[in-house]
Amino acid sequence: MPCTVIVGAFWGDEGKGKVISYLALKDKLDFCVRTGSVNAAHTVWMEGKRYALHIVPAAFLYGKCRLLIAAGANVHVAKFFEELELTKVHGRMSIDQMASIIEEKHSVQDKASTVNKGIGTTGWGVGPAVEERARRTAKLARDIPELKPYLADATTEINDGIDAGKKVILEGTQGFMLSLFHGTYPYVTSRDTGAAAICSEAGVGPTRVDNVLIVYKSFITRVGAGPLPGEITMEEAKKRGWFETAAGTGRNRRSAPFDFDLARKNAKINGATQAALTKLDCMFPECRSAQKYDDLSKDAKKFIEEIEKRTEVPVVLIGTGPEALDIIDRR
Ligand code: IMP
Ligand code: MG
Repeated sequence: MPCTVIVGAFWGDEGKGKVISYLALKDKLDFCVRTGSVNAAHTVWMEGKRYALHIVPAAFLYGKCRLLIAAGANVHVAKFFEELELTKVHGRMSIDQMASIIEEKHSVQDKASTVNKGIGTTGWGVGPAVEERARRTAKLARDIPELKPYLADATTEINDGIDAGKKVILEGTQGFMLSLFHGTYPYVTSRDTGAAAICSEAGVGPTRVDNVLIVYKSFITRVGAGPLPGEITMEEAKKRGWFETAAGTGRNRRSAPFDFDLARKNAKINGATQAALTKLDCMFPECRSAQKYDDLSKDAKKFIEEIEKRTEVPVVLIGTGPEALDIIDRR
C-alpha cells in the first residue's frame, strides 16, 4: 500500500472515515494526511463511541500514526483545538505551515450570501476562505501564534516517508461529484475533490502514488441543493433503511440508488486501482457484521460482482456495519 489516496465517489459521505480508520488499525499506518477543510465531517466508530471529525485525520485511532494537515488544506483554529482535546493526539499531530486559515468572518459571509444559500453550503465559510487564499490575502497557519507548537513541513515529511517505504494515506474529503471542476457545477464545493487534487493539496507528485482507493456507498446520498439522478422520496428512503442525516450539519440527506455508470466514469477519471463499498448491510440487512465474503447472501454478492464488472475495479473492502472493524477485507 505505501502511498494510497482515498477518494469519495459521489457526493460525499460515502464512509471514507470508516474505511480509513479500518486501514489505520489493520495496516498499522505510518502517516495520514487530511486535505480539504471543516465542511467535511468524517465519521469514525470505535467501541461504541462515535467521532465526527472535521480536522483530525480519521486514522487517529491507531496510536502510532503520524497525523498531518496538508499544505493545501484550510484550518479552523478553534475546531482544531477542540478535536485535539477530543482525540488526545497531542504530540503526533501537526499542521503544514502553509495551510490556510478559515475564520469566523468567512462563515458570516458564507451564511449571508444568497448564492451560497441557493447552493445550500454547510455554512462553515470554506468558499469565502478559499476566495481569500486565491486573492493572496488569507492568513496561513505560520501566521497564527497559537499554532506554533503544531507547525511542520508536512509536505517534506510525507515525501520523506514515501521514500522510506512508510505506509501513507492521503485522506480525501467530500465526493467527486462535489468537485469544483468535475462535479454538478454550480452545486459543488469550492475545490477539486478528485484524486489528483488530493495529491496536489498534500504536495505529492502523481508518480509517487501506488493506489487510488475509490469509496462507494451501496446507495447514494447528497446534502444541499443540486441534481441527484434517480432521487427517491424521504419516505421511500426511510422504508429502505437509507435515510441519513449529515454528520457535520445534521441536515437530512437526500438519497438515490447506486449509479453504475457514474461509478464507472468516476473510477476512470480518478484512476482508481481499488474500491471500497460501504453500508452493504443497509442494502442487505442479512449481511450485518459479516467478516467473510463467503458469508454474504447471494444477492449481496451479485451486487458486488456487478460493480466490479461495470467499473473494472476490484472491490477489496466491504463495509458491513458502522464500527471500524466491521469490514470484509479481500486484499
Ligand atoms: P460548501 O462546501 O460548504 O461550500 O458546500 C457546497 C456543497 O457541498 C453543499 O451542497 C454542501 O452540502 C456540500 N458539501 C460540502 N462538504 C460536504 C461533505 O463533507 N459531505 C457532503 N456534502 C458536502
Ligand atoms: Mg461526511
